[in-house]
Amino acid sequence: MSVIKGYQIQGILAKGGMATIYLALQESLQRHVALKVLSPKLDTSILEHFLDESRIIASLKHPNIIPVFDVGRVGMHFYHAMEYIEGGDLELKITQGIDHNTALEIIIELSDALHLVHSKGIIHGDIKPANIVFRSDGSPVLTDFGISKRTTTLTEVDQEENIFASPSYASPELMLGEQFDKTVDIYSLGIVLYEMLIGEKPFQGKTQAEMVTSHIQDTIPSLPKEMQALQPLINGMLAKNKNDRISDASVISTFIKKYLRDHPSAKQNAIIQDESMEGEVSLEYISDKTHKTNITSPRILLPLLLILLSANIAFALWYFLF
Ligand SMILES: Nc1ncnc2c1ncn2[C@@H]1O[C@H](COP(=O)(O)OP(=O)(O)OP(=O)(O)O)[C@@H](O)[C@H]1O
Ligand SMILES: [Mg+2]
Repeated sequence: MSVIKGYQIQGILAKGGMATIYLALQESLQRHVALKVLSPKLDTSILEHFLDESRIIASLKHPNIIPVFDVGRVGMHFYHAMEYIEGGDLELKITQGIDHNTALEIIIELSDALHLVHSKGIIHGDIKPANIVFRSDGSPVLTDFGISKRTTTLTEVDQEENIFASPSYASPELMLGEQFDKTVDIYSLGIVLYEMLIGEKPFQGKTQAEMVTSHIQDTIPSLPKEMQALQPLINGMLAKNKNDRISDASVISTFIKKYLRDHPSAKQNAIIQDESMEGEVSLEYISDKTHKTNITSPRILLPLLLILLSANIAFALWYFLF
């Protein structure tokens, strides 16, 4: 690859279907960035869409959407520089196992990001674990707007050309080449949520054709008993018919926030218990102090009475004897 002026390539982070992601040093600012360089073998229309992808991302300012710093081309190599996200992607995290409430917190942040994307008239179109990366503080970042579309310019061809969407996460209407809208992202996010909670995908198949059939025909699996309260959310996100699907991404985060209020995690429970113990300890401390200063306390009153009593007896003895 020809050298991209201003950047020192230091290694390969990943090789995706359409691009290679390099770790590079941006010389002017002396910081690490991720450089996405498209394969020059791609169709010119895809290469041109890449510039559009970069502009789309740059217009979206949100803590859970990848910031793009720069875009350009060297010969037939189109590239953009973005924040280097060091924590790996969700695909890797799922194989390691994610705890229930962490999974839900991730979905809250992603649905907030998606709400912004949709409010700008953009469909991401390829929500899947490999397109979600993590900062070192654990916050998820949505990336790869490579097949994103502006709803205002959605053409008939766009509606039929959905071959790039990943079959494991694509909604039935995308598979069938039917009319679609922003709810394709809600469906894909629903698959991601299910996969994080259960550890496997809700719709599977040995071949691509079987997988497509499963998405189109199979009923939505029931969650285990302990997760039953989340079933309406899963059903709303994975509805086969887009008209029955949740259409506003903010509904997802509101639902989960309410759920988490009723189901605090083991970690949160421990904090709550800790706090209530602290309360008891300080309450005891205050009440202890109150006893010491209170004259009516039996601990003070009893010795006082004994002193008085013995003084009275002593006085009576002195009176009668002398
Ligand atoms: N900013 C980043 N920082 C660190 N790693 C990243 C970053 N962006 C992407 N990656 C890694 O590179 C991989 C590929 O990136 P991306 O999805 O943008 O490329 P792609 O070629 O469009 O992929 P595909 O076509 O397979 O979806 C991601 O799955 C992720 O692991
Ligand atoms: Mg990708």
